[in-house]
Amino acid sequence: MSKKVLIVDGHPDPDRGRFVHALADAYADGATLGGHAVRRVDLATIDVPILRSRADWTDGTPAPDIAEAQDAIDWAEHVVFLYPLWLGDVPALLKAFLEQVARPGFALAPGTMPKPLLKGRSARLVVTMGMPAFFYRFYFGAHSVKSFERNILKLVGIKPVAHSLVGNVEGDEKSRAEWLDTLRQLGGAAA
Ligand SMILES: Cc1cc2nc3c(=O)[nH]c(=O)nc-3n(C[C@H](O)[C@H](O)[C@H](O)COP(=O)(O)O)c2cc1C
Repeated sequence: MSKKVLIVDGHPDPDRGRFVHALADAYADGATLGGHAVRRVDLATIDVPILRSRADWTDGTPAPDIAEAQDAIDWAEHVVFLYPLWLGDVPALLKAFLEQVARPGFALAPGTMPKPLLKGRSARLVVTMGMPAFFYRFYFGAHSVKSFERNILKLVGIKPVAHSLVGNVEGDEKSRAEWLDTLRQLGGAAA
């Protein structure tokens, strides 16, 4: 069945040589070939202001690129976030983006226990990292991926959330080619 897929490329560097961009392209190619509708948001090329106050979060008007991203999230049935692990977490630009889009009234209804407003959507996180993936998973407990899944996506109602941890990313060409293949297949299945 055809799905509406949003690909959020969270790499801050506009240099198309970054591997995250290649993974995002591979997923998009697979999804398009698989007959799915694809929209993309590339954080390296849009304006993402830093959110500085609760007042802006609750009552401010999102910048045009943020409003467009919210429209894409609203449209999507499956959202794929791709990003490099920077200092053990999402790059600051991606965190800034998440704070901007996940505003009360759009992503959640405020309250002591906020009500999720983005139910009915699934997600996948694709995270590249210099260290081996098993080291991130077992030594670090994949803490930032768990936090993204539980404290952000599940908070706003997006589940289930799958993830792909691409370790040793500066490593050999063979494993990079295999990952590109995997992402094409995941795109084909809109998974
Ligand atoms: C600012 C910065 C911080 C990084 N922190 C980590 C880290 O905490 N753990 C890790 O395994 N790799 C770390 N790396 C390596 C990146 O994860 C790696 O360069 C990236 O995933 C490669 O993908 P790319 O080609 O798309 O940039 C860091 C790289 C940079 C530039």
